[in-house]
Amino acid sequence: MKIVVTGGLGFIGSHTVVELQNQGFEVIIIDDLSNSSLKVLDGIQNITGKIPAFEKLDLREKDKVQDFFKRHHDVSGVIHFAASKAVGESVENPLLYYENNINTLVYILQELQQKPEASFIFSSSCTVYGQAEKMPITEDASIQTAMSPYGNTKQIGEEIITDVAKATNINTILLRYFNPIGAHSSAEIGELPLGVPQNLVPFITQTGLGLRKELSVYGDDYPTPDGTAVRDYIHVVDLAKAHVIALQRLLNKKNTAKVETFNLGTGTGSSVLEVIHAFEKVSGKKLPYKIVARREGDITSAYANTDKANTILGWKAEATLEESLASAWKWEQKIRK
Ligand code: WQD
Repeated sequence: MKIVVTGGLGFIGSHTVVELQNQGFEVIIIDDLSNSSLKVLDGIQNITGKIPAFEKLDLREKDKVQDFFKRHHDVSGVIHFAASKAVGESVENPLLYYENNINTLVYILQELQQKPEASFIFSSSCTVYGQAEKMPITEDASIQTAMSPYGNTKQIGEEIITDVAKATNINTILLRYFNPIGAHSSAEIGELPLGVPQNLVPFITQTGLGLRKELSVYGDDYPTPDGTAVRDYIHVVDLAKAHVIALQRLLNKKNTAKVETFNLGTGTGSSVLEVIHAFEKVSGKKLPYKIVARREGDITSAYANTDKANTILGWKAEATLEESLASAWKWEQKIRK
């Protein structure tokens, strides 16, 4: 079975390619290399022994997308990761996000709708919930007004897919990620943030290595047990495995609706201070940090109700927060050698 993975050289994409290859899928990666590197291909091959096919492609170029699918007419499914994902950048440059996250989705769906049937996995995000009223968050929690253009592109993406699924033979699963962290146990692939990391865990591991002077904790005045914000940190390999399970569900026609939605988290919330202490434990390092003002647009708390993914997908996150942080730390040390 030939599967296209867009954004397949990215953080979650590359880990998903490994798990697809482990399950015997033939993978073609599409990536524009704007936020990744060809070295990731070597990492994947070092893990699985198989180098995936790769095509450098800017999915904003409709004719190139059409040409790709003409040349690869036997594609059974697409896992669509390719998107810009920096919340802050999306506020400064919304049109970059609407073009890159929406147009590319439309062009891919236009190709898939021409097939007798197609399986489509969409990389969505818990960001669509905004600050949900009730924890843990279920898939039927109300979708709040997006807090950023990035978040809005995920909401719009889900709406486009829902409309398209009703009118075509495309079967879809929307996967709403919570906070992906960590790296493959081999330390052959992992998160490669360009520039100053926006996300908590890569900033922590870089600080642990002395690349950053100290971590700024964005606020300790939230209504949470220790005052710092709470998130659901899920190991990227657990997340990758869920994508393969979801794809197999569609390929085996086990889906009970044209569009199914699943929250992918551990089901446990961890505060920023808890993550810091867990990192100190696994690394043996004292992490320098200071409390600063809240970050614009941040929510207090988000962690997943994972019952639906557990019962319907038969999937459950396995890695603990400490295991995830230990893998992130191992990866950070390796790439800085
Ligand atoms: C986590 C917590 C920060 C950095 C974002 C996107 C989401 C997804 C994951 C793409 C928050 C705090 C962070 C720092 C800190 N991305 N923090 N100091 O904001 O929950 O989610 O990334 O899909 O869509 O919205 O993740 O890692 O940025 O922050 O105190 O230097 O850590 O305030 O409470 P976030 P994050």
